Amino acid sequence: MRLNSMKAIVLEKTGGLDVLAVTQVPTPQPGANEVLIRIHCVGVNYADILSRQGLYNWANKIPYILGLESSGTVAAIGSNVRKFEVGDRVVVGSKNGNYAEFIVQPEDGVLPAPETLDFPELACLCGNWMTAWIALFELARMRSGEIALIQSGAGGVGTAAIQLAVSLGMRVYATSSTPGKMEYIRSLGATPLSYEEFDGVLATHPPDFILESVGGEVHRRSLNLLAPLGRLVTIGASSIRVNQLNPFSWYNAWRNLPKVSSKDLNSQAYMTLHVGFLLEDHRERIVPIWTRMVEYMTEHGLKPIVQPAFIYPMSEVRTAHQVIETRKNIGKVILDPSR
Ligand SMILES: NC(=O)c1ccc[n+]([C@@H]2O[C@H](COP(=O)([O-])OP(=O)(O)OC[C@H]3O[C@@H](n4cnc5c(N)ncnc54)[C@H](OP(=O)(O)O)[C@@H]3O)[C@@H](O)[C@H]2O)c1
Repeated sequence: MRLNSMKAIVLEKTGGLDVLAVTQVPTPQPGANEVLIRIHCVGVNYADILSRQGLYNWANKIPYILGLESSGTVAAIGSNVRKFEVGDRVVVGSKNGNYAEFIVQPEDGVLPAPETLDFPELACLCGNWMTAWIALFELARMRSGEIALIQSGAGGVGTAAIQLAVSLGMRVYATSSTPGKMEYIRSLGATPLSYEEFDGVLATHPPDFILESVGGEVHRRSLNLLAPLGRLVTIGASSIRVNQLNPFSWYNAWRNLPKVSSKDLNSQAYMTLHVGFLLEDHRERIVPIWTRMVEYMTEHGLKPIVQPAFIYPMSEVRTAHQVIETRKNIGKVILDPSR
């Protein structure tokens, strides 16, 4: 049964954890070419933390419903919809609107869910797995036997990238901040390294591929380490902190944002990736990539890492954000809007 109103987390103002609260809003209704989806799991992304803090320049203007990705079932379809039926399991990656019980998407904005994955696993595919897949396979065109360095290997994107690189037969190294996370990285088949030691250890066998998401000093040292003919894909800058009231922190943030000039590179490739931009504005390019990725995951028996301890009821959204902000999560953090 569909209701006239639904639970959602609307970002009315940016700031700390206290700006997050569950409210009731009208349930959206699908137009002729649209699909209404009942959301079962919401994928929480690092970008959601930045959006909440007002530091994500790709985010919508407030107010809007937070959230970039989810998994669920089709609850209703518009009169022109041909690709989906009520009850189909689907995945959504969109600019906002996923911290909710329902979301409406254009038919072409909905992705069919592979049968082999459950709803928490499906809610990792757009933000984490598409990012790792595009970086490794579509941009850097990695090959078996090459050396990979994944920065922040224990997180959502990191665990996806390690699994993909290991399955391809690469020699994989990954950084992290705690012994527990390093142990987890080892269990996925990669060699864990600390942020302090990675370039020292790898100086004699530099990486052909680096997935960089930390920024600042780690970004600079990663670039210096890259092998000739190596490819570095930059996807974020998790180390950057800004105190809105302190102009010096803005200056520091600007200084630590990943930057590169041609003189920093010699016979190497430096690439950027923003999966949200591709999902939102270049859907026609995403669909074949999605198909290739899902086929590969199925063929290699790969599944996203979602630990039950990191699945929270929507009412505990503040804890979910805090866990990511304080670097506690291993794998993905999920919200369950039914609770
Ligand atoms: N460009 C894109 O399309 C795209 C898409 C998805 C994600 N991303 C980026 O990829 C990165 C990972 O995203 P995610 O959603 O998977 O998050 P996550 O990895 O689950 O969480 C972020 C991790 O960053 C690491 N980190 C390193 N230095 C940090 C610092 N100074 N402060 C806080 N954390 C720090 C922490 O792991 P350790 O404790 O192990 O260091 C933390 O757990 C983020 O930078 C995100 O913005 C980009």
